[in-house]
Amino acid sequence: MAIYLDYAASVPISAEVLATFTEALQTVGNPSSTHSLGQGSRMMLEDAREQIALAVGCDRSEVIFTAGGTESDNLAIKGLFWKRRGENPARNVIVSTYMEHHAVIDPIEWLEAHEGAEVAWIGVSDEGVIELAALESFLAARGSEVALITMMWANNEVGVINDIKAVTALAVKHGIPVHSDAIAAFGHVPIDFKSSGLSALSISAHKVAGPVGVGALILSRAETLTPLVHGGGQERSMRSGTMNAPGAKAFAHAASLAVANMSKHNSHTRALVERLREGIESTISGARFSRGSASAMTHNAHFTFEGLKSDGLLFLLDQADIAVSAGSACQAGVDRPSHVLLAMGRSEDEANSCLRITVGLQTTEAEIERFLQVLPTAVAAARSANPT
Ligand SMILES: Cc1ncc(COP(=O)(O)O)c(C=O)c1O
Repeated sequence: MAIYLDYAASVPISAEVLATFTEALQTVGNPSSTHSLGQGSRMMLEDAREQIALAVGCDRSEVIFTAGGTESDNLAIKGLFWKRRGENPARNVIVSTYMEHHAVIDPIEWLEAHEGAEVAWIGVSDEGVIELAALESFLAARGSEVALITMMWANNEVGVINDIKAVTALAVKHGIPVHSDAIAAFGHVPIDFKSSGLSALSISAHKVAGPVGVGALILSRAETLTPLVHGGGQERSMRSGTMNAPGAKAFAHAASLAVANMSKHNSHTRALVERLREGIESTISGARFSRGSASAMTHNAHFTFEGLKSDGLLFLLDQADIAVSAGSACQAGVDRPSHVLLAMGRSEDEANSCLRITVGLQTTEAEIERFLQVLPTAVAAARSANPT
């Protein structure tokens, strides 16, 4: 049977959530309809909103349901940029880092190419942590020109956790809204929107064992943005379109379970990742654990292997029925170095030689031992067949 070690790409939907979802899919009625059936759907949606609000520590009115993490990121970035720059044309700068997921980098670069935005990429340390001193001095010099800051809570490739409160503490002095992509972090680290100082935060259901294609943007009540989609005015007019009540219900169930099981999940995955690290470092020369000693999510083990290219190694592991990735699933099949490793100052060769192993509550010790048995041979074969 295949061994799945790619939880950061997508967490398999749990049996409980699948049961909730399939039952909810049989519900009749549009949540905006005034008849009783429609109002039943509306209640399902509003209960889900309440549960999501509890899971992320926000007010229920701050939850905007979307069709996934990428949409939430686009809505926050384009929507806040247009709103802020519309109010004050001097605010034309977007501040971020190159550690972000492409769901953040690409809308920023689109705004730069098509809307004349200026972008300031703040550096990160060699362990992948935001250089707060660099952010502080940039804001001291140009804070009044910044429309928004977007910085991820935790990185999906190497697993590093950022100090988002430190970012919002710097931004507030200059009246700048901060958005955080917490899609990788949610379910792995405690998130409390209210005390974070954020204006907006993105989450996605399939990263917490919910269905694919469901997400949310948490948007502060004090904030508005320019919507991307116009229509029926649903979701505070920020995101028109008939609401996906069954998807929201399944997402809410998955989110509540992820938060309730967080410490169990983290101690289980921490032990597996420690074993992975020890097993890899003791048997394979030229393996480098990517995040060093930075604070990180427990389920992530990211390595580079000197002298090979990731795609060859992934192919060999897949032949052995082991599913892992080189980094973001969205870049899978694209033969280019990891932009995250490059941002951390690694060479192109290193950034082309990544292996990301991510585990979950269902991963067993036996699966890790099997992987550790197969990996040295696969690395040796990848090194001779497909060297950098
Ligand atoms: C950090 C991060 N941001 C955004 C996304 C995109 O989310 P979705 O797959 O729900 O569109 C992902 C998914 O891999 C992610 O890990």
